[in-house]
Amino acid sequence: MDKPEQTADSEFRYEAVVKFIDDLIDSGALAPGQKVPSLRKVSKARGVSVSTALHAYRMLESKGVLEAQPQSGFYVSANSVVQMGKPSVMSRSTPVRKVSSGALVANMFELAGDTDLAPLGCAIPSPDLLAASQLDKFLARMTRTRGKHANTYAPPRGVDSLRAAIARRSINWGHAVSADDIVITCGCTEALHLALKAIAQPGDTIAVESPNYFGFLPILQALHLKVTEIPTDSIDGISVPALEVALEKTPVKACLFSSAFNNPLGCLTSEEKKNQVLSLLNRHRIPLIEDDVYGDIFFGKERPRPYSAMEKAKNVIYCSSFSKTVAPGYRIGWIASSGYTDKLAAEKYATTLCGPTLTQVALGEYLNAGAYDNHLRGLRKSFAANMAAVSNTIADTFPAGTRISRPEGGFVLWVELPDDINARAVFDLAIREGICFAPGDLFTTSNNYRSCLRISCGYPWNTQIERAIWKLAELVVVQRNAQT
Ligand SMILES: Cc1ncc(COP(=O)(O)O)c(C=O)c1O
Repeated sequence: MDKPEQTADSEFRYEAVVKFIDDLIDSGALAPGQKVPSLRKVSKARGVSVSTALHAYRMLESKGVLEAQPQSGFYVSANSVVQMGKPSVMSRSTPVRKVSSGALVANMFELAGDTDLAPLGCAIPSPDLLAASQLDKFLARMTRTRGKHANTYAPPRGVDSLRAAIARRSINWGHAVSADDIVITCGCTEALHLALKAIAQPGDTIAVESPNYFGFLPILQALHLKVTEIPTDSIDGISVPALEVALEKTPVKACLFSSAFNNPLGCLTSEEKKNQVLSLLNRHRIPLIEDDVYGDIFFGKERPRPYSAMEKAKNVIYCSSFSKTVAPGYRIGWIASSGYTDKLAAEKYATTLCGPTLTQVALGEYLNAGAYDNHLRGLRKSFAANMAAVSNTIADTFPAGTRISRPEGGFVLWVELPDDINARAVFDLAIREGICFAPGDLFTTSNNYRSCLRISCGYPWNTQIERAIWKLAELVVVQRNAQT
C-alpha cells in the first residue's frame, strides 16, 4: 500500500478521512450495508490523494468498519459491533474533589489473584501469553552464573544493564532517553507514586482523564492529593477545550495522563492533540506525568509516540513498566525524566533503597537477547483477536442500547449499558456466578459511569470466557428486571 501523506503538523491525512467516515456512520448518515463515497469523491471532498483515501478505507476495512466488494467499492460493514454506539463522554470536567478510593478498589486487587473467577476483571494478561516463562529461564541462569554477585544491593537507580536496555528501546518510542535519567521502580505504580511525590504537596490538585485507571486513586489518596477529571473520548482521547477551561479555573499542580490506550477506554490521543495539550501545560507551567504501560500493545502499524517524544514536550515525566507485556510478578517498572532524576532517585532510596537485583539482571539479559520484539508481535495479535471475539459476543448478546469502545491497542474494553442498569449490582450477581469484571464507578471520583463496566480481554478466547459473556448478558437483564 502507498505511504500515507503527512501534513506539516505531522497529522496523518488518512486519519482525517477515517474520522470523516466514522462520523458519518456514527451519525447514521451512512447505514450498515450502504455504499460509502467512492475513493475519487472522498479524495476530492477531503483534499487528499486517491491513494491516501484508499489507505484510510483499507484501515477501516481492517477494523471491520468497512467491507470491500470486488468491482463495486466499499460498503459499511453489517458487523454488529459497528452498529453499536460509542460510549458517551462527560460534558465538563468534575469539580475538585478529595480522593477516597473505597473498599472495592482494594477488593479488585485481591480478586486479581483468584484463578477460580472468569478472568474479565483485572487488567492482567494470561501468563500463557506473557513472556514470564522465558524470563524465568533467564532468571534461573542468572541465579546459577551470577547469583553470588547479584545477591547484593543494586544501585538506587537500578541495575545498569537494565537501564541501558530500556534506554536503547526508548528509540522505538521516538524519544531517546539517557540511561542516566532512568530510575527502575517497583512497577509503574511506584513510578507514578514517585513522580507525584516529586511534584505535588498534600492538598494539591492533579488533573486526570475521565474515566481513569482505578489504581491511580489509592496513590492520590495516600499522598493526600485532590483530583479534577477531564472529559475523555473513547476514540480520540482527552478533550483539549475542557482541559483549557479546567486549567483556567483550577490551580492544577500536575496532570496525570495516559500516553496511549488509556485504561479503561483504550483511546488514543493523536500527536496533534498531544502537542496542543503540551502547549497548554507549558503556558500554565504545569508538568505532565504520563503513564505508558500500554504503549507497546498497539494494533496499528506503529507504536504511538508518547507525550515526552512530542515537539512541545518540556516538562514531562515518563512512567511505564513490563507488567502488561512480560511479567507483572517481577514488579519492574521505570521512570524517566531529565529534570527530576536526582529527586526521583533520592525518593527511591529513601523508601526502598533499591529494587531487587536478580530480577533486574534477568530482565536486562532477556531484553538484550533480542526476543522481546518478536514476543510483542505475537502478544498484540492475541490481544486484538481476544478483543474482537469479546466485542462481537457482547454485540450479539447484550441488550439494545449497549455501547462499546473500539480500542486500537491494550486489552481492555469499556462497555456502557443502557442507563437504567446498575453495573455494581450486576457485579454482585456476577461474582456469585464466578465471573469478575470491573464496575464503571471504580474509574472515577464522581457519580458517573454507574451503568458502565470494563472487561479485560487479556486471556485467549475460550469456552469459559464465551460462557461468561453470555452469562453476563443474562445478569444484566436480571438486574434490569429486578428494578421494575
Ligand atoms: C494505566 C495503568 N497504569 C499502571 C498500572 C500498574 O502497573 P504496574 O503493575 O506496573 O504497577 C496499570 C495496571 O493495570 C494500569 O492499567
